[in-house]
Amino acid sequence: MNNKVSRRKFAIQSATLGFFAITAKKAESAPTEEHRLEVAPEAHIGTIRPELHSHFAEHLGSCTYGGLWVGRNSRIPNISGYRKQAVEYLKALGIPVLRWPGGCFADDYHWRDGIGPVEKRPKVVNIHWGNYVEDNSFGTHEFIGLCRLIGAEPYIAGNVGSGTPEELRDWVEYCNYPAGSRLSDERSANGSPEPFKVTYWGIGNENWGCGGQMRAEEYSGHYRRFATYVRPFGGTTPFMIACGPNRNNKDWTEKFFESMPSGRARKPNGFAMHYYSNSRLPATNFTAEAMQQQFQSFQGLEQAIVEQRALLDKFDPGKNIGLMVDEWGVWDQMVPEEQQKYGRLWQQITMRCAVAAALGLNVFHRHADKLYMCNIAQIVNVLHSVLLTEEDKCIRTPTYYAFELLKPHRGKTSVKVENDDKSALKLSVSASRHENDLVLTLVNSQPDTTMNVNCSIAGKALVSTATARAMYHADLNACNTFDRPNEVVPRNHAASASGSLVRTEMPPLSVVTITARLG
Ligand code: AHR
Repeated sequence: MNNKVSRRKFAIQSATLGFFAITAKKAESAPTEEHRLEVAPEAHIGTIRPELHSHFAEHLGSCTYGGLWVGRNSRIPNISGYRKQAVEYLKALGIPVLRWPGGCFADDYHWRDGIGPVEKRPKVVNIHWGNYVEDNSFGTHEFIGLCRLIGAEPYIAGNVGSGTPEELRDWVEYCNYPAGSRLSDERSANGSPEPFKVTYWGIGNENWGCGGQMRAEEYSGHYRRFATYVRPFGGTTPFMIACGPNRNNKDWTEKFFESMPSGRARKPNGFAMHYYSNSRLPATNFTAEAMQQQFQSFQGLEQAIVEQRALLDKFDPGKNIGLMVDEWGVWDQMVPEEQQKYGRLWQQITMRCAVAAALGLNVFHRHADKLYMCNIAQIVNVLHSVLLTEEDKCIRTPTYYAFELLKPHRGKTSVKVENDDKSALKLSVSASRHENDLVLTLVNSQPDTTMNVNCSIAGKALVSTATARAMYHADLNACNTFDRPNEVVPRNHAASASGSLVRTEMPPLSVVTITARLG
């Protein structure tokens, strides 16, 4: 059911049912749609691995330098060089895994440049992101230090494009060998006697593009050669991640696996596709039409997950290889003055971006059985970021709050939902449960429609309580700025439980998470 009803009829229905302690403010002209969902708490999809909510930091623009890392002598409040406010916000959000140092940068990064006394580290040109010179003051030790501060698992992307198997092999030993070897002693002399215990290793990045412009068959050979030398040390077994396709490029996946001999080759543990949601408009000048076009890419993302997993299953029937999306998010038209001021690929984050983030996370939850890890691009000041910084200011973007709203799903079991919106895009849904706790995230992606959502529980299980948090804004281009950092923030929202029914009203362009108790 998805019929539009008049606002008067809706008001009568609401009053009759006697719920809505608080009513969301509706745009005067917004029509209301009635929607029905049925959650099946016993129809398990799979565990929503917290890793599906992971992040990515590159040496690009002001993501690492100037964003996360301000340096030990900065006047900006810092913890041993890390921007203090960013650390606090990221720690509060919980960052399951942080991928670094790229991106395209990874295949031009030589890790030895970033260890040892800072004043002796070489100054190198970042050829991918503007030919600027960086001083390598943020290297492996600084990355691991950041991960420890914010509680994230490190994921290091190795250099295949311009590096050697020896270089990657040595990086793994440097990080993970406990003690007594040349490289572990060097690590110890550089201040870290304890091994870093890095599990996640990317064998290159976008090797079909900036990582070497390779054909799939060529990369498959490189993958095998590099992977041969990535070894377990001291109880840490590397989880090796192969470069997957751009979007849903099946040819890449097929040729990569077809070129992989059966038998002794060290198969990847993860296979990572990249899927961006592009647009030709600048972030704060979106039209409703451009927004809908961008949102449609999330249907493409969902289809790519299903089809890439099916292909993987052909080559890996035992499902030993985890499908990953280790770069995703909105990529809008950059504004030259903003890039000039804040660095490459800096874009403002709006209410639309929060909806996009929630659409993406809902897709991942619905396919929790098919996915191992997903990393939004990127964490600070670049693309679909959760934080923006300017000098000593650091603000949380609507993307940050979208992740916060969906955080209660982490670690719970994703369950099936029957949605009357078969597109799963106008009204996007994911649901999860742990014992009697049920979490439901609803996304109304329509900028001009209020949705009155009635959600029943299959099997008529009773719902004793329902509370909700929501984020919405009448302006799809609304954003948090350094002067108005709280323009788009979540707030408590009305939801009701009655019998086996949960109900809420969703304002146009909104993300709502309902936490309910069964029984
Ligand atoms: O995230 C920005 C860039 O997008 C990354 O460096 C690259 O991997 C991708 O093309």
